[in-house]
Amino acid sequence: MDTITGFHRTNYCGDLRLSDVGKTVSVCGWVQRQRDLGGLIFVDLRDRTGLVQLSFGDSTDREIFEKAASLRAEYVVAATGIVRERESKSTKIATGDIEIEVTELRLLAKSETPPFEIVENSNANDVLRLKYRYLDLRRADMQRTIQLRHKIVKICRDYFDEQGFLEIETPILTKSTPEGARDYLVPSRVHPGKFYALPQSPQQYKQLLMLSGFDRYIQIARCFRDEDLRADRQPEFTQIDLEMSFITEDDIMTIQEGFMKRVFKEILNVDVQTPFLRMPYREAMDRFGSDKPDLRFGFELCDVSDIVKDCEFSVFADAVKNGGSVRLINLNGHAADFPRKKIDKLQDFAKTYRAKGLAWTRLIDGAVTSSYAKFLTEEQQNAILERAGAKDGDLVLLVADAKNDVVFASLGALRCECAKQLGLLKSDDFKFLWVTEFPMFEYSEEEGRYQAMHHPFTAPMECDADRILTDKANVRARAYDIVLNGTELGGGSIRINTPDLQEKAFRALEISEEDIRERFGHLVDAFKFGAPPHGGLAYGLDRLVMLMTGAESIRDVIAFPKVQTAADLMMNCPDVVDDKQMQELYIASTAPAEE
Ligand code: AMO
Ligand code: AMP
Repeated sequence: MDTITGFHRTNYCGDLRLSDVGKTVSVCGWVQRQRDLGGLIFVDLRDRTGLVQLSFGDSTDREIFEKAASLRAEYVVAATGIVRERESKSTKIATGDIEIEVTELRLLAKSETPPFEIVENSNANDVLRLKYRYLDLRRADMQRTIQLRHKIVKICRDYFDEQGFLEIETPILTKSTPEGARDYLVPSRVHPGKFYALPQSPQQYKQLLMLSGFDRYIQIARCFRDEDLRADRQPEFTQIDLEMSFITEDDIMTIQEGFMKRVFKEILNVDVQTPFLRMPYREAMDRFGSDKPDLRFGFELCDVSDIVKDCEFSVFADAVKNGGSVRLINLNGHAADFPRKKIDKLQDFAKTYRAKGLAWTRLIDGAVTSSYAKFLTEEQQNAILERAGAKDGDLVLLVADAKNDVVFASLGALRCECAKQLGLLKSDDFKFLWVTEFPMFEYSEEEGRYQAMHHPFTAPMECDADRILTDKANVRARAYDIVLNGTELGGGSIRINTPDLQEKAFRALEISEEDIRERFGHLVDAFKFGAPPHGGLAYGLDRLVMLMTGAESIRDVIAFPKVQTAADLMMNCPDVVDDKQMQELYIASTAPAEE
């Protein structure tokens, strides 16, 4: 094996162009592929910037030629040579006009045959890719994503620095923060029986930093939440976390819009229009059935409860009588795209959102067919179609339920599913909005009490503040989410900054005096010493990168992600530890023994 001593790289592989012809260059990287044509050998060499072709022929020193003949995929080599214009150019790679005629070749490391081929858009099995993540990361698309993620973070740091934000780190070993998920706990050796919690977010620390006078804080913060994983959730993820003092919602939103404008321009050369649309939560639910509406297409919801409340069809009438509603979406012009069989599939889809059924009307070639025709008067049917603005070629889908949540969730998901099936979700179309005026509390059936919809430090809207103990269902918070194409990119709020209001909010949440002292005593005490009006926001960095790269899962934009079961397949963790380690921590496992 050769060594790297005395070798100095002059160029990255992917950067060489026609303008470099005639220069002597030194490159290094991995063998993508070697083609031995007898008297000629071509080697595609890969590094993080791309590929370049090395050529070996008649004029090549015999020893070098033989070494080139021994190269296999993923061998690590360094080469020096002269850049030549290629006879047969390739348009497939950026360096396709040139090749390097090699005069010195060093073999730095060999490789076994990798478990999957290192190629772009690999169709290798996910488990294998994650087990050998270090190889998976060699692929050009992964390299691009991770490099782009770096650039986004860099722009973020630069932008917020220019806006006067200070980057301040907060502890990882901390006390439980109430962001609504389960905590990851770390047992203390020094304090037997006591535990640190890994932060679900730096929420309380950043508020305390405002109290300390730092005025504008930012952190690229790692957060930990033990919750059910989905395509846009990881147990360990990264937030761009911010907090500001002496501001209102407008100041926060304007600064964030500036950031989005900058990052989308610099990374994707996309001009984002600001200010973003702002929409109260109530309107988002009524029109889109979601608090994170995708605005790239229409199919808005509409309420027909008043039309059907006394009709003969008990499914409709009872839903309204029992406090729910009947709502619809109109897939304008798409009746022909959804024949009966497909509508049945849509019904199955709606049922996964707890809808009990899916009623429909198809208007096609002048004929109107409907799943509920026999139960409703012609007048009622016409009134529904009129409300839906339905015309020939349309398909109207209705859901009735005594729980409005079910109606919103199922129709909200259906409109996105239909848009997806119709190919209306363009990944290069970016529709931002702020959703505002969230309810302060939401009722938890499980707990039998109201819980904070955002977190317990969120301030109520000033006009609702005097009703936080008496009218919990209707009090709105000064909370806002930034939404992009149906994904919640970030969320934040204006915080409570006086002890009285904070205590009142805790009381509204039915947190006992004892619990308040125990869990939030430090914050309550701190607020007695003059807390400035403040507020902030946190973006999911992983989600931002996912949307900017068009990735389907945040797993694809995290170097070392975890799988659905929160395991790291490469490191094989979580894992058991020595009895001695457990004893030192005063803990014992009650888990059933593994087979
Ligand atoms: P919130 O809980 O809304 O707010 O989180 C902010 C943003 O973080 C991202 N996010 C996640 N990303 C990946 N995996 C997860 N498991 C995950 N959970 C959340 C989302 C979300 O919008 N402290 C408050 C912010 C504040 O009030 O300033 C907070 O954490 O993109
Ligand atoms: P049925 O009488 O059960 O055949 O129902 C007639 C139509 O109403 C069918 O298209 C059902 O899918 C639909 N339907 C049943 N329950 C609901 C519901 N809760 N919301 C909307 N449509 C429903």
